[in-house]
Amino acid sequence: MKYINASIIAFAAGVLLAGTAAAADLAAGKQKAEQVCAACHGANGVSAVADFPKLAGQYNEYLIRALKDYKSGARKNPIMADQASKLGERDIDDVAAYFSSLQALSTKY
Ligand code: HEC
Repeated sequence: MKYINASIIAFAAGVLLAGTAAAADLAAGKQKAEQVCAACHGANGVSAVADFPKLAGQYNEYLIRALKDYKSGARKNPIMADQASKLGERDIDDVAAYFSSLQALSTKY
């Protein structure tokens, strides 16, 4: 019975994640990224300095998780806690979709 419950939950979570990804608005994510995130992470998601992680090509789910964790305080970083606190659920889905849609590029610092 336990196994059955776990697989139902996993299935439901999968459906929810797929729904979220489909609903994300890339254009809105791009706009937010260029207005806010670009200063540190680069408009193309490839930051110019090693202090700021590259976001281009990162998994959508990873980006969503990171932003939610900064917002809740589960992941601690004063800069990103401040940034994430200004993002709604919808913004998080949109920017995550945008950055994950970009091509990851390597840069030498
Ligand atoms: C003032 C600079 C600054 C701005 C603006 C900024 N970030 Fe960050 N971001 C950082 C820093 C510094 C880190 C590394 C924090 C850490 O070590 O956890 C980070 C980390 C992240 C991470 C985790 C990356 C990883 O590899 O784990 C994500 C996702 C992220 N930022 C998304 C965003 C988004 C989306 C925006 C725009 C809404 C944004 N950031 C705006 C500085 C910034």
